[in-house]
Amino acid sequence: MTAPVIRPPRSSIVSPPVIAGRNIRVTFGDNIALDGVDLTVRPGEVVGLLGHSGSGKSTLMKTLTRLTDFTADELTVAGRDVAQQNGSDLRSLRSDVGYVFQHFNLVPRLSALTNVLTGGLYDAGAVNLIGGFGRTQRVEALELLRRVGLEGKASQQSRTLSGGEQQRVAIARTLMQHPKLILADEPVASLDPRLAGTILTLLREIARERQVPVIVSLHVVGLARKYTDRVIGLRDGRTVFNSRAEELNEEAVSTIYGEHADIVEQ
Ligand SMILES: Nc1ncnc2c1ncn2[C@@H]1O[C@H](COP(=O)(O)OP(=O)(O)OP(=O)(O)O)[C@@H](O)[C@H]1O
Ligand SMILES: [Mg+2]
Repeated sequence: MTAPVIRPPRSSIVSPPVIAGRNIRVTFGDNIALDGVDLTVRPGEVVGLLGHSGSGKSTLMKTLTRLTDFTADELTVAGRDVAQQNGSDLRSLRSDVGYVFQHFNLVPRLSALTNVLTGGLYDAGAVNLIGGFGRTQRVEALELLRRVGLEGKASQQSRTLSGGEQQRVAIARTLMQHPKLILADEPVASLDPRLAGTILTLLREIARERQVPVIVSLHVVGLARKYTDRVIGLRDGRTVFNSRAEELNEEAVSTIYGEHADIVEQ
């Protein structure tokens, strides 16, 4: 049996970017959280965000669905001008973006399958909500659980699943949403290093298979180097590194982290 082929991202020249951002700025009172960040992300690309606590990683993700106010010379996500989205347009933009969080955010009492099904609620509409989930959606949710390696756990209450399993359910739930972009904010911070590798591999495979870009914030440089295509290093809200993951050498790490560089290298 041959190993599955993981395709590299399609040529960055032919694919239009899923995110095009120029000069993104966010301020909270006197605090400048993002100070002129540029962000271009292509289909299928896995982009790692690195930086100290407070450097602006989560804030940058939040700008992409307008969960925080910002100014920018340009910010489009999946072809939509983020600053111009309101009401149903904004809900529609948010439904195009899948989130994966550190603490999984599953409904603990519900089964793995039902948690996955909730990812499709935006598409299901009110009628289906009253009548329960349709057969097509259940088939899709089961297929997604199989994709993340949890076909045997569909009916298990999510609170009884291990951390790694819960994060797989959360990823399947996100896919149920048919996202055009996945934002993973420290998705492996609560997992041991081996599991961290499996979850990041899964996210990378999904990015390739579906040509959906993934932005993932990480606190471990070694994980960014191994599992992402490109790394953006933020320091005090500014981009101090934006290059291929292989180029994340010692000098780059100290540019991002300064004197604390040694504690993040693993
Ligand atoms: N809602 C808010 N109100 C005020 N300040 C905020 C708010 N959200 C973020 N900040 C500030 O913006 C800066 C960037 O925060 P952010 O959460 O983006 O950092 P981070 O890089 O994600 O950090 P961590 O690694 O700890 O998650 C910090 O100084 C933070 O205190
Ligand atoms: Mg954060």
